[in-house]
Amino acid sequence: MTSAPQRAPELSSRRADFPALLRTHNGFPLAFLDGPAGTQVPRQVIDAIGRYYATCNANTHGQFVTTRESDRLLLETRETMAVFLGAEGMHTVSFGANMTTLAFSLSRALLRSFRAGDEVVITQLDHEANRGPWLALREHGIVVKEIAVRPDATLNEDDFASNINERTRLVAMGWASNAFGTVNNVGLARSLTRRVGAYLLVDAVHYAPHFPLDVQNAGVDFLLCSAYKFYGPHVGILYAREGLLDQLQTDRLSTQDPHAPYRIETGTLNHAALAGVKAAVDYIGSLASGATTRQTLMSAMALLGQHERALGEKLYTGLSAIEGVRIIGQPFTVPLRAPTVSFTMAGKRPETVCARLGEKGICTWDGHFYAVRPMELLGLLKEGGVTRVGVSLYTTEQEIERLVQEVGRIARLSE
Ligand SMILES: Cc1ncc(COP(=O)(O)O)c(C=O)c1O
Repeated sequence: MTSAPQRAPELSSRRADFPALLRTHNGFPLAFLDGPAGTQVPRQVIDAIGRYYATCNANTHGQFVTTRESDRLLLETRETMAVFLGAEGMHTVSFGANMTTLAFSLSRALLRSFRAGDEVVITQLDHEANRGPWLALREHGIVVKEIAVRPDATLNEDDFASNINERTRLVAMGWASNAFGTVNNVGLARSLTRRVGAYLLVDAVHYAPHFPLDVQNAGVDFLLCSAYKFYGPHVGILYAREGLLDQLQTDRLSTQDPHAPYRIETGTLNHAALAGVKAAVDYIGSLASGATTRQTLMSAMALLGQHERALGEKLYTGLSAIEGVRIIGQPFTVPLRAPTVSFTMAGKRPETVCARLGEKGICTWDGHFYAVRPMELLGLLKEGGVTRVGVSLYTTEQEIERLVQEVGRIARLSE
């Protein structure tokens, strides 16, 4: 998406779909700028979850009406998610409690196909959920290497070529940084992993809410994301390239379906939440139109991306003009950047900044957001991390103006 940012005023009417946006605090309407930690949920998703409990709450694979309806719902959710991801089909889509749990399950499964001395490449920019499961493999003789983070919160791309070799079995990288909004060069990693026959795993938890996904075109082997970041409930999603999961020795019960996509799904899934996942993707699709569901979803994500980028740019410009504010991360002049802006303020800890914003009904996050390694390396951890502002579908220009004005006021306070 390199086109000039445009407004998408039609999205503002969709605010009415989100009941939480009616909340006030201390007399202020709540401004949810906390989307990177989880977005608000539209009525359509809430209703789908309620409808499941009200009408067909049952376990799967039985001989009566509600169990059959549950089977159909799960199938439809997988199919819908496959279309959203641009995947080969429903058998490439597995569900779990959250991204972290799926990443750990996958790391244990992959380990069974690795040998001591094999190498895994991770990055210093990533959320711990895409580092911890791979760092744990060190205990089993796997060599884990790290792509370095640079002061502007981008990855050192030269490190990919110097760290990926014939011993590399897996590169696990984030697509977008949940802490700084950086979008990483997955294409570069893909061409290097292909050369040596290594797997490419992408954490798209922060990318999926803001950009259209096309797993086949991107050529990833595994991709992980989380529905609660894109207007759905707390469910983790794993895409595994066709045929791949069936080759892995996953942790599973002897009674469990041993085939993909079920092969990595232990126990009973959260059916009601999965009803919500389907509703969330359908909801995104309702923002646009197209000849096919896939085209509709792609247009909707492009529309969302334009809206968010325009607001992200406004946010970046507004915050940059405040004395004492330092933004960590790239400016919006780069072609791809998530609308997530993190900053520090001279003499003020993020915790204090967020508490002051919170008093005014502005929800923002302070800290490291589990992206603890880059925070540490960029010298931010000892100062309490950063203040992070996220832009979502329902974010308005007025909310950005309110935030910027309030940050300006906090900057002028002597405390
Ligand atoms: C980039 C990124 N990766 C992974 C995760 C972990 O996701 P989950 O909460 O589904 O385990 C998060 C959560 O904030 C994230 O932002």
